[in-house]
Amino acid sequence: MNSYIKDISYYVPEKIITNNDLEKLMDTSDEWITSRTGIKQRHSVGDNPLGPSDLAVESTKKLFDKIDVKLEDIDFVIFATSSPDTYVPGSGSIFQHKMGLNNIGVLDIRQGCCGFVYAISVADQFIKAGTYKNILVVGSEVQTTQLDYDTKGRGTAIIFGDGATSALVRPTKSKGKGILSSHLHSDGKYISELGTMVPSPVVKGLINKKNIDNREHHIFMNGREVFRHAVKRFPDVIREGLSYNNLNIEDVGLVIPHQANYRITQAVQRSLKVEENKVFSNIHKYGNTTAASVGIALSEAIEQNRIKDNDIIVLVAFGAGFYWASSILKWHNE
Ligand code: UT7
Repeated sequence: MNSYIKDISYYVPEKIITNNDLEKLMDTSDEWITSRTGIKQRHSVGDNPLGPSDLAVESTKKLFDKIDVKLEDIDFVIFATSSPDTYVPGSGSIFQHKMGLNNIGVLDIRQGCCGFVYAISVADQFIKAGTYKNILVVGSEVQTTQLDYDTKGRGTAIIFGDGATSALVRPTKSKGKGILSSHLHSDGKYISELGTMVPSPVVKGLINKKNIDNREHHIFMNGREVFRHAVKRFPDVIREGLSYNNLNIEDVGLVIPHQANYRITQAVQRSLKVEENKVFSNIHKYGNTTAASVGIALSEAIEQNRIKDNDIIVLVAFGAGFYWASSILKWHNE
């Protein structure tokens, strides 16, 4: 039995940080950010003490406002974030408590920008195995509170934004529709190219003032190296998924890539030799929302009527780890 995404929603906090706002904090310009990334603004929780579990509550409420499934019917939660509310426990259980989804199983996913695609893949396996029937998949991030809004951190700080997405994954009896396959990869050789370099509390004696003075508590990205890998891994893992399903790029209705950088999206489009409107982009509005980005993009593509029943849809992501992953869907409107 296949699984499918019954519906999906998203939420972004109200406050907007524009490129002009960043110009006041660091040596940068709207022109540089727009031309290098395509980003014009990103959303932020600002001074509100909110974590990814709070944004996820909002996106989940929006999801249940539009579907005829009851919250009590949810039998499992998968929560993807790289900016957890607390070190322990994971945001999944914090979110579960806030939603009143007591006693069901919850799984946290920490695959950075690939978090949503990994989470969809895990949900698909649980449905195919017959273990669960209504899995809530969440991707949520609060990044703007941990960025280095200083010229020293400008290569990374301009990229990220806050947001959340919630999807319901459930079984379908329609043969050959829904999530067809997922393809997951990782290469830990590149851990130091993107991430927070401050050690975790389990590494005895390593968290100290020096870490803070060296700005290691801020997320760091070796942009050029990440870019170089991204423009190869995105098309590779798309081709892998299509080939596994005996599909060609001409069969694809829409590619929904993780919103990392508009130049990466354009490079993917050129590499696949498809028209611009076949690769979705909304990075100008939200920046890179890490584990929420693919879900927010999928939600907006549906809102804009860019996805029809039976369309082949490719979800694809690349990021910290490095992780890279794709899911091939045959869209199922039910
Ligand atoms: O979601 C996870 C995956 N993430 C990605 O895929 C991100 C991939 N990387 C990128 O998107 C790009 O590498 C960035 C947008 C992060 C950076 O763009 P770039 O074209 O690779 O710039 P760069 O880091 O090579 O820097 C070029 C120049 C440098 O100056 P010099 O050394 O040439 O004088 C930087 O210091 O631009 C400077 N620079 C900036 N200038 C103005 C770096 N950041 C900024 C900035 N404003 N914000």
